[in-house]
Parts: sequence; structure tokens; C-alpha cells
Amino acid sequence: MERLDKVLANLGYGSRKDVKKIIKSGEVKIDGEVIKDNNYQLDPIKSTIKVNGEEVTYKKNIYLMMNKPDGVISATFDDYDRTVIDLLEEQHKVFDPFPVGRLDKDTVGLLLLTNDGELNHRLISPKWHVDKVYYAKIDSELNKNDIEEFKKGIILDDGYKCMPAKLEILKADENESEVKVTVQEGKYHQVKRMFQSLDKKVIYLKRLSFGGLNLDERLDEGEYRELTVSELEKLRIICKIC
Ligand code: URA
Repeated sequence: MERLDKVLANLGYGSRKDVKKIIKSGEVKIDGEVIKDNNYQLDPIKSTIKVNGEEVTYKKNIYLMMNKPDGVISATFDDYDRTVIDLLEEQHKVFDPFPVGRLDKDTVGLLLLTNDGELNHRLISPKWHVDKVYYAKIDSELNKNDIEEFKKGIILDDGYKCMPAKLEILKADENESEVKVTVQEGKYHQVKRMFQSLDKKVIYLKRLSFGGLNLDERLDEGEYRELTVSELEKLRIICKIC
């Protein structure tokens, strides 16, 4: 059961404050009855909801793809810095979405946000082997030995042995390399620490893809959009959610 004001806010009728006004004005009917109480509890899937005489279809979850900008925290709240939630419009905030896993403050690129706890859990659990692909610039030259180290499983500074990962060298000279890294787990600062274990430093990091979904390059940094039906279906298949 859910509160009527939350249900209407999720349906896109504005902030909780906006929908309270709509409810008070008597424009909302649940199963044929005018309801003026914000706290009215309903099962939004089973109930017939009409606003101004028009029937509306309820949507419980939201799934967003963001191109995360530099300098923003992947969290729902922070005392000092702007968070990815601060970048959302009110109509999306009302769903109470949270970021799926974390990107560091200075990492840019694909970040999924949702309020679907089960999907989130499966996407971030190493058990489901969900690929995360990053583009990185490294402060020095990389070679075939580094590719082998990634394949074997890098040992991090705390002794943890990473799952085998894929390193592709796109460009390399003695001052800098450009690479693509594919990992299936999401330890704290994972990619940076993997290179640190090889005595190299990541100087730029961007996530290109997550669970087979590619970052929509039409999204500028800080922009986001809802996932398409087929993108969501792809994630569900990867996470084996029927
Ligand atoms: N690995 C990192 O080191 N940082 C990120 O933000 C993501 C993966």
C-alpha cells in the first residue's frame, strides 16, 4: 500500500506540495470515489486512479542513465558537495532514486539511477558478473605485461585479489597511455587501485558502459534521460530478473 500523494507525485503531477493541492481540490478519484486525504493508502496497481476524470496508469519505478560530471558525488546526500540527485528534476526526484554503485567525485560517464532495489542489488553484486567498461588515461606507458596482470587478477594494496579483468591498450607512448578496462566488480576506487598496484596513475576516468548499456553520447556531462524499454529489458536479462 502507498500514500496517495506519493503515488501522484510519481505519476508526474508535480512535487508532493503540488499534489497535495490537487488532492484537496477534489480532482482525484480512487475506484470511483473522490479522495481528499493525502495520507489515503492505496494499492496503485489494483486501484483505478482518475485525475480530472482521466484515468492514469501507475509507474512504480524509475530508471535513469546519467552522464555524470566531474566534481559531483554519487550519493543521495552530502554535507558539502553537490550530489547526482541535485542534478535531477523534481518530477524524477519524487521517485527517490539512488545511484547504482558509485563513481568517484572526479570520474565522469555512465551512472544508472533507480529506486528498484532488486535490480540495483544484482547490478552491483559481483555474483552476476555484470561488465563495467571504463576509458582511462594513464600517466605512463603500458605494455603486454600489464594486459597479462589484469587477466591474472591484480592484487590490490589491501591484499585483495581482483577477479580477472580485461585491459585493452588504445594508445601508448612513454608519457601517457589510453586504455579500455572491463571489470565485473566494484571495489572502492577499483580501477585506480588496480593501476596503482602496477605503479601507474589514472589521470582521467570515464565509464563507457554498464551491464551492456552504453553511455548515450548525446548526453552532455550532467544530463540524463530515462532508460528505453529495450535498455531496461537488457538489464533485466543480464541480471536474470524475469
Ligand atoms: N574505479 C575507480 O577507481 N573509480 C571509479 O569511479 C570507478 C571505478
